Amino acid sequence: MAKAPAKKQKQDDRQIIRIFDTTLRDGEQAPGNSMNIEEKLRIAKQLQKLNVDVIEAGFPIASDGDFEAVKLVAQTIKGPQIAGLCRSSEKDIDRAWEALKYAGERGRIHTFIATSDIHMKYKLQMEPAKVLASAVKAVKRAASYTPNVEFSCEDAVRTRLPFLAEVVEAVIAAGATTVNIPDTVGYTVPFEYFNIITYLKQNVPNIDKAIISVHCHNDLGLSVANSLAAIQAGARQVECTINGIGERAGNCSLEEFVMILKTRGDILPFYTNIATEQLTPSSRLLTTITGIGVQPNKSVVGANAFAHEAGIHQHGMLMEKTTYEIMTPESVGLNASALVLGKHSGRHAFKKRLEELGYDLDDEKINRSFDRFKTLADLKKEVFDEDLDAIVADEAREDEKFKLGHITVTCGSFAVATATVQLEINGTPVRTAELGDGPVDATLKAIKKLTKTKAKLMQYNVGSITGGTDAQGEVTVRVAEGHHIVVGKGSSTDIIEASAKAYVHALNRLHSRQKRVSEGV
Ligand code: KIV
Ligand code: ZN
Repeated sequence: MAKAPAKKQKQDDRQIIRIFDTTLRDGEQAPGNSMNIEEKLRIAKQLQKLNVDVIEAGFPIASDGDFEAVKLVAQTIKGPQIAGLCRSSEKDIDRAWEALKYAGERGRIHTFIATSDIHMKYKLQMEPAKVLASAVKAVKRAASYTPNVEFSCEDAVRTRLPFLAEVVEAVIAAGATTVNIPDTVGYTVPFEYFNIITYLKQNVPNIDKAIISVHCHNDLGLSVANSLAAIQAGARQVECTINGIGERAGNCSLEEFVMILKTRGDILPFYTNIATEQLTPSSRLLTTITGIGVQPNKSVVGANAFAHEAGIHQHGMLMEKTTYEIMTPESVGLNASALVLGKHSGRHAFKKRLEELGYDLDDEKINRSFDRFKTLADLKKEVFDEDLDAIVADEAREDEKFKLGHITVTCGSFAVATATVQLEINGTPVRTAELGDGPVDATLKAIKKLTKTKAKLMQYNVGSITGGTDAQGEVTVRVAEGHHIVVGKGSSTDIIEASAKAYVHALNRLHSRQKRVSEGV
């Protein structure tokens, strides 16, 4: 019998939406999210695994630290394009390309100027004609280095539409291949944003020569909904961040936006290149590095996003998972913690596991981390990936003015808590004792006295890294002095020690931040 002709594959007519990740630029600008160069590289490597289309690695003219980070990311990361932000001035653009050129044709210059009346009048103090001329000049300068030029009309949503269209047309004619229409202040609502993008599609004659990008802030909680409305009107690049971090209320959350397209492919004819099983690891890595966790009920990556508590829900789940689950935990990379190593594991297995987790440590740091791992494995029956993250985060720190030595505490329901703390300050051991309202208070007071810090402890949180009473406690503190706010983290099976580590970590970060500022870096 003749075989039936193979059915013709249905043409995939879904449209690609490019994901431009700005965790390392807009995200990093937000208070408490600042990262050092090593941390930025780790995030960039994770973004590479996540398969984002563009990584905005920083704002090269902002500081030498930002410049070096963009340069290192451009030199190291393969795959995604690497963008660097710059204002519309020659100096900014030249500096950005200086850092980006290492990515070759994957290097993207992202230049911007504000176009709304309010920004032009009060911030720039420039007439619209001058703003238009600066935008065109900037794009031409950028295009002299690379054809990969993005131009942003800052505060586009509050810009008069005819002027917005005029600027967009002029920058495309000058060589911009992506035009970004940001909602800088998180002011728009979905139907209005849809209409703005539609207006540009209808009133900019050369609009098809560039990709329309959107960049939404979350001041009214609409950044994801607005981004969705924009792609329905024709935008084809969405700028977002892991965990939605960013200026003020943050940016469009990458994981939420991507999972909407994946989950509602039945009515949304779009797709992204994102490896969605890397969403949870990306979210966790960012949390580990910044110390800023996501709320438990956060969509997609919150601790409760896949937890079913109510009896009726659990019953439904047992019968058929799709009764209450619209996406699987596996699809976003949420698997039960994997038991990886135990006290019999050797250095080789330990090093290999760290490599698999994306760590690239020198021998000295591996050795220090391995010693910590052995101590932990003796105390704890099971050592999980999350424990390894915490160990490495503690041990991989550089440039430490303060080093924690020993702590002894006495406390109890009848005793006044006392802590004796020994630190090394620039290599010199110092020691003191303090009383406190509980052992943590006494310990932190002793550290405060020894370091003579004027920083204020703004926040103290304690949680456990994995389950069980032998779990490591993880402490996060937020410390502020003047304009500087930093987050410190520490982990240990002993929460007093974890608290001391977190506080010392924060004071070291504050010190290196203040040092960088005073050196003009
Ligand atoms: O929010 C904004 O307008 C920005 C631009 C610089 C793209 O971050
Ligand atoms: Zn922004």
